[in-house]
Amino acid sequence: MAAATRLISRLTLVTGGGSGIGRAVCQRLASEGASVVVADISEESANETLGILRSDLKGQGHMAAVVDVSSKESITKLVTNIQTRYFQPPSVCVNAAGITQDDFLLSMTEEQFDRVIQVNLKGSFLVTQAVAQALVACGAPKGSIVTVGSIVGKVGNIGQVNYAASKAGVEGLTRTAAKELSRFGIRCNCVLPGFISTPMTDKVPEKVITKMKSLVPMGRMGESAEVADVCAFLASDDSRYITGASIEVTGGLFMG
Ligand SMILES: NC(=O)c1ccc[n+]([C@@H]2O[C@H](COP(=O)([O-])OP(=O)(O)OC[C@H]3O[C@@H](n4cnc5c(N)ncnc54)[C@H](O)[C@@H]3O)[C@@H](O)[C@H]2O)c1
Repeated sequence: MAAATRLISRLTLVTGGGSGIGRAVCQRLASEGASVVVADISEESANETLGILRSDLKGQGHMAAVVDVSSKESITKLVTNIQTRYFQPPSVCVNAAGITQDDFLLSMTEEQFDRVIQVNLKGSFLVTQAVAQALVACGAPKGSIVTVGSIVGKVGNIGQVNYAASKAGVEGLTRTAAKELSRFGIRCNCVLPGFISTPMTDKVPEKVITKMKSLVPMGRMGESAEVADVCAFLASDDSRYITGASIEVTGGLFMG
Protein backbone atom coordinates (compact mmCIF):
# COMPACT_ATOMS: atom_id res chain seq x y z
CA MET A 1 0.00 0.00 0.00
CA ALA A 2 1.30 3.49 -0.81
CA ALA A 3 2.44 5.42 2.25
CA ALA A 4 -0.05 8.16 1.42
CA THR A 5 -3.01 5.86 2.10
CA ARG A 6 -1.74 3.16 4.43
CA LEU A 7 -3.53 4.55 7.53
CA ILE A 8 -6.93 5.17 5.96
CA SER A 9 -9.74 4.30 8.42
CA ARG A 10 -7.31 3.97 11.34
CA LEU A 11 -8.27 5.83 14.50
CA THR A 12 -5.15 7.15 16.19
CA LEU A 13 -4.42 8.80 19.53
CA VAL A 14 -1.36 11.01 19.90
CA THR A 15 -0.44 12.35 23.34
CA GLY A 16 1.67 15.48 23.43
CA GLY A 17 0.08 16.22 20.06
CA GLY A 18 0.13 19.96 20.69
CA SER A 19 3.82 20.54 20.02
CA GLY A 20 7.08 19.37 18.51
CA ILE A 21 7.34 15.67 17.73
CA GLY A 22 3.73 14.91 18.77
CA ARG A 23 2.42 17.59 16.41
CA ALA A 24 4.55 16.26 13.54
CA VAL A 25 3.22 12.76 14.24
CA CYS A 26 -0.38 14.04 14.08
CA GLN A 27 0.39 15.71 10.74
CA ARG A 28 2.05 12.62 9.29
CA LEU A 29 -0.69 10.20 10.42
CA ALA A 30 -3.40 12.54 9.09
CA SER A 31 -1.57 12.87 5.78
CA GLU A 32 -1.74 9.07 5.45
CA GLY A 33 -5.50 9.01 6.02
CA ALA A 34 -5.81 8.38 9.76
CA SER A 35 -8.36 10.07 11.98
CA VAL A 36 -6.33 11.70 14.72
CA VAL A 37 -7.16 12.49 18.34
CA VAL A 38 -4.75 15.27 19.27
CA ALA A 39 -4.37 14.99 23.04
CA ASP A 40 -2.37 17.45 25.11
CA ILE A 41 -2.35 19.07 28.53
CA SER A 42 -2.54 22.40 26.69
CA GLU A 43 -5.94 22.88 25.06
CA GLU A 44 -4.66 25.80 23.00
CA SER A 45 -1.78 23.81 21.52
CA ALA A 46 -3.98 20.79 20.80
CA ASN A 47 -6.43 23.03 18.94
CA GLU A 48 -3.59 24.64 17.01
CA THR A 49 -2.47 21.22 15.80
CA LEU A 50 -6.04 20.25 14.95
CA GLY A 51 -6.25 23.34 12.76
CA ILE A 52 -3.34 22.29 10.54
CA LEU A 53 -4.27 18.64 9.95
CA ARG A 54 -5.17 17.32 6.54
CA SER A 55 -8.77 16.14 6.64
CA ASP A 56 -9.86 15.50 3.06
CA LEU A 57 -9.16 11.77 2.92
CA LYS A 58 -11.82 9.05 3.12
CA GLY A 59 -13.76 9.04 6.40
CA GLN A 60 -11.38 11.33 8.26
CA GLY A 61 -12.57 13.12 11.41
CA HIS A 62 -10.07 14.56 13.86
CA MET A 63 -10.58 15.91 17.35
CA ALA A 64 -8.57 17.78 19.98
CA ALA A 65 -8.71 16.72 23.62
CA VAL A 66 -7.21 17.87 26.89
CA VAL A 67 -5.47 15.19 28.91
CA ASP A 68 -2.93 14.99 31.69
CA VAL A 69 -1.17 11.69 31.00
CA SER A 70 0.03 11.47 34.60
CA SER A 71 -3.58 11.16 35.81
CA LYS A 72 -5.44 7.87 35.44
CA GLU A 73 -8.76 9.67 35.85
CA SER A 74 -7.94 12.04 33.00
CA ILE A 75 -6.94 9.19 30.68
CA THR A 76 -10.02 7.13 31.51
CA LYS A 77 -12.16 10.14 30.63
CA LEU A 78 -10.28 10.63 27.36
CA VAL A 79 -10.64 7.01 26.23
CA THR A 80 -14.36 7.07 27.14
CA ASN A 81 -14.85 10.29 25.14
CA ILE A 82 -13.05 8.78 22.14
CA GLN A 83 -15.24 5.67 22.23
CA THR A 84 -18.39 7.77 22.56
CA ARG A 85 -17.46 9.82 19.52
CA TYR A 86 -16.00 7.15 17.23
CA PHE A 87 -17.72 3.98 18.57
CA GLN A 88 -14.30 2.30 18.79
CA PRO A 89 -11.01 2.68 20.68
CA PRO A 90 -7.90 3.97 18.88
CA SER A 91 -6.03 1.13 17.18
CA VAL A 92 -2.90 3.28 16.95
CA CYS A 93 -1.50 5.18 19.90
CA VAL A 94 1.64 7.31 19.98
CA ASN A 95 2.89 8.31 23.43
CA ALA A 96 4.74 11.56 22.71
CA ALA A 97 3.85 13.63 25.80
CA GLY A 98 6.99 14.33 27.77
CA ILE A 99 8.75 16.90 29.90
CA THR A 100 12.20 17.74 31.20
CA GLN A 101 13.15 19.26 34.56
CA ASP A 102 16.93 19.23 34.37
CA ASP A 103 19.37 19.48 37.26
CA PHE A 104 22.53 17.79 38.40
CA LEU A 105 22.11 14.65 40.50
CA LEU A 106 23.68 16.39 43.49
CA SER A 107 21.05 19.12 43.52
CA MET A 108 17.92 17.58 41.96
CA THR A 109 14.88 17.74 44.20
CA GLU A 110 12.57 14.83 44.87
CA GLU A 111 9.76 16.84 43.24
CA GLN A 112 11.75 17.27 40.00
CA PHE A 113 12.49 13.56 39.91
CA ASP A 114 8.90 12.53 40.66
CA ARG A 115 7.24 14.86 38.15
CA VAL A 116 9.37 13.70 35.22
CA ILE A 117 8.78 10.05 36.12
CA GLN A 118 5.05 10.71 36.52
CA VAL A 119 4.63 12.27 33.09
CA ASN A 120 7.16 10.37 30.99
CA LEU A 121 7.07 6.89 32.53
CA LYS A 122 3.82 6.56 34.47
CA GLY A 123 2.01 8.52 31.75
CA SER A 124 3.20 6.06 29.08
CA PHE A 125 2.11 3.17 31.31
CA LEU A 126 -1.36 4.60 31.97
CA VAL A 127 -2.05 5.44 28.32
CA THR A 128 -0.69 2.12 27.03
CA GLN A 129 -2.75 0.23 29.60
CA ALA A 130 -5.98 2.16 28.89
CA VAL A 131 -5.68 1.77 25.10
CA ALA A 132 -4.75 -1.92 25.35
CA GLN A 133 -7.62 -2.62 27.75
CA ALA A 134 -10.09 -0.93 25.40
CA LEU A 135 -8.76 -2.80 22.35
CA VAL A 136 -8.87 -6.18 24.09
CA ALA A 137 -12.36 -5.49 25.48
CA CYS A 138 -13.80 -4.77 22.03
CA GLY A 139 -12.01 -7.70 20.37
CA ALA A 140 -10.10 -5.50 17.92
CA PRO A 141 -7.90 -7.68 15.70
CA LYS A 142 -4.82 -5.47 15.85
CA GLY A 143 -3.22 -2.42 17.37
CA SER A 144 0.05 -0.54 17.39
CA ILE A 145 1.38 1.43 20.36
CA VAL A 146 4.44 3.58 19.80
CA THR A 147 6.24 5.25 22.69
CA VAL A 148 8.72 8.06 22.21
CA GLY A 149 11.73 7.24 24.38
CA SER A 150 15.13 8.87 23.96
CA ILE A 151 18.67 7.87 23.17
CA VAL A 152 19.44 9.46 26.55
CA GLY A 153 17.68 6.50 28.21
CA LYS A 154 20.45 4.28 26.83
CA VAL A 155 23.53 6.42 27.32
CA GLY A 156 22.59 8.86 30.13
CA ASN A 157 23.02 12.62 29.97
CA ILE A 158 24.53 15.10 32.39
CA GLY A 159 21.78 17.02 34.20
CA GLN A 160 19.04 14.56 33.23
CA VAL A 161 19.06 11.79 35.82
CA ASN A 162 15.25 11.94 36.10
CA TYR A 163 14.67 12.12 32.35
CA ALA A 164 17.18 9.39 31.47
CA ALA A 165 15.63 7.08 34.08
CA SER A 166 12.14 7.76 32.70
CA LYS A 167 13.26 7.04 29.14
CA ALA A 168 15.12 3.85 30.10
CA GLY A 169 11.91 2.89 31.89
CA VAL A 170 9.68 3.26 28.83
CA GLU A 171 11.85 0.78 26.93
CA GLY A 172 11.40 -1.87 29.64
CA LEU A 173 7.70 -1.05 29.77
CA THR A 174 7.37 -1.35 26.00
CA ARG A 175 9.21 -4.69 25.75
CA THR A 176 7.05 -6.14 28.51
CA ALA A 177 3.86 -4.80 26.96
CA ALA A 178 4.99 -6.26 23.61
CA LYS A 179 5.41 -9.70 25.18
CA GLU A 180 2.06 -9.59 26.98
CA LEU A 181 -0.01 -8.05 24.18
CA SER A 182 1.28 -9.96 21.13
CA ARG A 183 -1.40 -12.61 21.60
CA PHE A 184 -4.04 -9.89 21.16
CA GLY A 185 -2.45 -8.63 17.94
CA ILE A 186 -1.17 -5.47 19.63
CA ARG A 187 2.40 -4.44 18.79
CA CYS A 188 4.41 -2.13 21.05
CA ASN A 189 7.57 -0.34 19.99
CA CYS A 190 9.77 2.60 20.94
CA VAL A 191 11.31 5.34 18.87
CA LEU A 192 14.47 6.82 20.37
CA PRO A 193 15.15 10.32 19.06
CA GLY A 194 18.52 11.97 19.49
CA PHE A 195 18.64 15.78 19.35
CA ILE A 196 15.58 17.09 17.55
CA SER A 197 14.66 20.78 17.04
CA THR A 198 11.47 21.34 19.06
CA PRO A 199 10.27 23.73 21.77
CA MET A 200 11.79 21.23 24.25
CA THR A 201 15.32 21.64 22.86
CA ASP A 202 14.82 25.40 22.33
CA LYS A 203 15.49 25.59 26.09
CA VAL A 204 18.97 24.06 25.69
CA PRO A 205 21.81 26.66 25.73
CA GLU A 206 23.36 27.41 22.31
CA LYS A 207 26.78 26.29 23.61
CA VAL A 208 25.43 22.82 24.42
CA ILE A 209 23.61 22.57 21.06
CA THR A 210 26.83 23.38 19.19
CA LYS A 211 28.70 20.72 21.16
CA MET A 212 25.97 18.10 20.59
CA LYS A 213 25.87 18.83 16.85
CA SER A 214 29.60 18.20 16.64
CA LEU A 215 28.99 14.70 18.07
CA VAL A 216 26.31 13.80 15.53
CA PRO A 217 27.84 11.88 12.60
CA MET A 218 25.24 13.43 10.29
CA GLY A 219 26.33 16.86 11.58
CA ARG A 220 22.95 18.38 12.37
CA MET A 221 19.96 18.20 14.68
CA GLY A 222 16.98 16.17 13.54
CA GLU A 223 13.57 17.47 12.50
CA SER A 224 10.31 16.42 14.19
CA ALA A 225 9.07 15.15 10.83
CA GLU A 226 11.99 12.71 10.69
CA VAL A 227 10.83 11.14 13.96
CA ALA A 228 7.21 11.24 12.79
CA ASP A 229 8.09 9.27 9.65
CA VAL A 230 9.34 6.38 11.81
CA CYS A 231 6.29 6.56 14.09
CA ALA A 232 4.05 6.30 11.01
CA PHE A 233 6.00 3.23 9.82
CA LEU A 234 5.56 1.60 13.25
CA ALA A 235 1.87 2.54 13.30
CA SER A 236 1.27 0.97 9.89
CA ASP A 237 1.15 -2.63 8.71
CA ASP A 238 4.50 -2.07 6.98
CA SER A 239 5.98 -2.95 10.39
CA ARG A 240 3.63 -5.87 11.02
CA TYR A 241 6.39 -8.27 12.18
CA ILE A 242 8.08 -5.72 14.46
CA THR A 243 7.29 -5.63 18.17
CA GLY A 244 9.33 -4.87 21.29
CA ALA A 245 11.82 -2.94 19.17
CA SER A 246 13.51 0.40 19.77
CA ILE A 247 14.40 2.35 16.65
CA GLU A 248 17.02 5.08 17.02
CA VAL A 249 16.40 8.32 15.09
CA THR A 250 19.60 10.11 15.98
CA GLY A 251 21.62 10.88 12.84
CA GLY A 252 24.05 8.31 14.25
CA LEU A 253 24.57 10.01 17.65
CA PHE A 254 25.82 7.46 20.21
CA MET A 255 25.44 4.57 17.77
CA GLY A 256 26.75 1.13 18.64
N1 LIG B 1 13.26 17.13 21.23
C1 LIG B 1 14.15 16.19 21.42
O1 LIG B 1 15.35 16.35 21.11
C2 LIG B 1 13.74 14.87 21.99
C3 LIG B 1 14.71 13.87 22.05
C4 LIG B 1 14.36 12.63 22.57
C5 LIG B 1 13.09 12.41 23.00
N2 LIG B 1 12.16 13.39 22.95
C6 LIG B 1 10.82 13.07 23.44
O2 LIG B 1 9.87 13.38 22.44
C7 LIG B 1 8.61 13.67 23.06
C8 LIG B 1 8.12 14.99 22.50
O3 LIG B 1 9.06 16.00 22.85
P1 LIG B 1 9.17 17.40 22.10
O4 LIG B 1 10.60 17.68 21.92
O5 LIG B 1 8.24 17.41 20.95
O6 LIG B 1 8.65 18.37 23.28
P2 LIG B 1 7.56 19.53 23.31
O7 LIG B 1 7.77 20.19 24.63
O8 LIG B 1 7.62 20.33 22.07
O9 LIG B 1 6.17 18.72 23.31
C9 LIG B 1 5.72 17.98 24.41
C10 LIG B 1 4.22 18.10 24.49
O10 LIG B 1 3.78 17.29 25.60
C11 LIG B 1 2.77 18.01 26.27
N3 LIG B 1 2.68 17.56 27.65
C12 LIG B 1 3.53 17.82 28.66
N4 LIG B 1 3.09 17.26 29.80
C13 LIG B 1 1.93 16.63 29.50
C14 LIG B 1 1.01 15.88 30.27
N5 LIG B 1 1.18 15.68 31.58
N6 LIG B 1 -0.07 15.35 29.63
C15 LIG B 1 -0.27 15.56 28.32
N7 LIG B 1 0.57 16.28 27.54
C16 LIG B 1 1.66 16.81 28.13
C17 LIG B 1 3.19 19.47 26.17
O11 LIG B 1 2.12 20.36 26.42
C18 LIG B 1 3.74 19.53 24.76
O12 LIG B 1 2.71 19.88 23.84
C19 LIG B 1 8.88 13.69 24.55
O13 LIG B 1 8.52 12.45 25.11
C20 LIG B 1 10.37 13.87 24.64
O14 LIG B 1 10.89 13.37 25.85
C21 LIG B 1 12.46 14.63 22.44
